[in-house]
Amino acid sequence: MISGTPGTGKTQVSGILAKKLGFELISVNDFAESHGLVEGTDEARESLIIDEEKLKVEIEKLSGDIVLEGHLAHFCYADLVVILRTNPLELEKRLLSRNWAPQKITENVEAEILDIILQEAVEINSYVVEIDTSSVDSEAVSKVIFDMIKNKNYSDYRPGNVSWVAFFDMLPL
Ligand SMILES: Nc1ncnc2c1ncn2[C@@H]1O[C@H](COP(=O)(O)OP(=O)(O)O)[C@@H](O)[C@H]1O
Ligand SMILES: [Mg+2]
Repeated sequence: MISGTPGTGKTQVSGILAKKLGFELISVNDFAESHGLVEGTDEARESLIIDEEKLKVEIEKLSGDIVLEGHLAHFCYADLVVILRTNPLELEKRLLSRNWAPQKITENVEAEILDIILQEAVEINSYVVEIDTSSVDSEAVSKVIFDMIKNKNYSDYRPGNVSWVAFFDMLPL
């Protein structure tokens, strides 16, 4: 599965990867909507509120080879969890083109600096890798993941290979 802060490239990378692997592609947001797991919308954040426990249960019921994509995907179990990471300044640039509220952009950039999604992923999953997408395109990122799966070699991408400590001064005190 592919997770990460919004703007890190999940949707693009997953689309290319699913084609390369010949796997089914499932977006968590679409899946949650079609399975009645949306509990409402977070007005302030302009995002869907999804029941993460129910999501986990419903995803467990799926079978076959699947690329599951979305910023809540890592709350589910998977054979491999890929967290996409992006340099906070580059991420801010990508999110600014989305017409989001400034507060929503700041929140996501701060979450990226603090490795929030990576931490959540390693709490429940054993096979977690993180890949920096800041300066490579989605095709190249997909190839890295494809090769990783084919060669079963994760050593260059273990949690901790990406660090945004140099950007801690962007965080509020
Ligand atoms: N590796 C990349 N390099 C540069 N821009 C990228 C890269 N991956 C995605 N983008 C751009 O960033 C934005 C977010 O990509 P998207 O796949 O929608 O991310 P997510 O699904 O994680 O929110 C898009 O505008 C996309 O064109
Ligand atoms: Mg997306």
